[in-house]
Amino acid sequence: MFTKNDTVKCILHNKNWKITEKNAQAYAPSNIALAKYWGKRNAELNLPANPSVSISLADKGATAIINTIPDPQDKFIINQKNVFGNKHSARLTQYLDLFRGPKPQFYQLELQVNIPFAAGLASSACIFASIILALNNLYAWQLKTHELSILARLGSGSAARSIQHGFVEWDKGIRDDGLDSFATLIPIRWSEFCVGLCIFETKEKAVSSREGMQHTEATSPFYADWVEYANQSAGEIKSAILQQDFLRLGELAETNAATMHSTMLSANPPIRYHTQQTLDHIQQVKKLRQTGLKVFYTQDAGPNLKLLFLSSDMESIKQHFSNIEIIQPFHAVSL
Ligand code: PMV
Repeated sequence: MFTKNDTVKCILHNKNWKITEKNAQAYAPSNIALAKYWGKRNAELNLPANPSVSISLADKGATAIINTIPDPQDKFIINQKNVFGNKHSARLTQYLDLFRGPKPQFYQLELQVNIPFAAGLASSACIFASIILALNNLYAWQLKTHELSILARLGSGSAARSIQHGFVEWDKGIRDDGLDSFATLIPIRWSEFCVGLCIFETKEKAVSSREGMQHTEATSPFYADWVEYANQSAGEIKSAILQQDFLRLGELAETNAATMHSTMLSANPPIRYHTQQTLDHIQQVKKLRQTGLKVFYTQDAGPNLKLLFLSSDMESIKQHFSNIEIIQPFHAVSL
């Protein structure tokens, strides 16, 4: 059985632990899956049971600033607040435990995150991706993109996809050591493609995605069907992206999200991330589509929705969803 430490050893075996840049800093965008990851072939290494496809959220994400400190424990500052003794600090410590080096090193890690935590907005994806990017700068490891993706995955599966901007595909891989499970860029720039964040709930979710996945795998009679479907759906979604076929992509992404949530609902007891507001918004999206507006939704492990549309419909979308935050993934960054 391979461990996270084995993965780190494999990737960092010939690397230096000399600090080359004080207060090393790095930014990683959050990402929204269009073809979802829900289920693992290996829980220790966060190896997914199916490939997934996402869009990175440009300037919505996390900046990590990291330095070593002489103290015997790590120090965390998240959005200007000291964080200690809770599940967030425990998870960050566990991740940093993988990167102590030969003479155990502790860190001060500051995170500036501009999306709500744990409300199904992939905050863990950008956080773990930004940390590994910052460590890579701190020690000047010059890791390759796929190596960074593998190391980000050890923090949170979806973080594997947050190493890059644009459309990204995360291969499930087949190796037991997981060294073939990393994300790569889908080579396309689709300037008109927009994502709208409909955030109506910022409370932390009751069931984490880790627990939710485990519970679905263990108890849903449809889990095997989901895995089979998700494997095929990811390929179809990728090809709709490559063809820039928006209607097909929207339909496929919406069905993919609905199928993932149906699978969770079939777990025992069911996992339900939607609230009445989620259902009302879904209804509204469907009604608007009947009037000819090309808008689709996707939903992750939380009640909030993300809308998919093209920039030509931006004004109508703003009129119908007053609090929407619009991201143009290909505008804010140079790819
Ligand atoms: O990487 P995690 O443990 O945060 O899981 C992500 C799960 C979903 O957001 C629901 C789907 C996905 O592919 O991002």
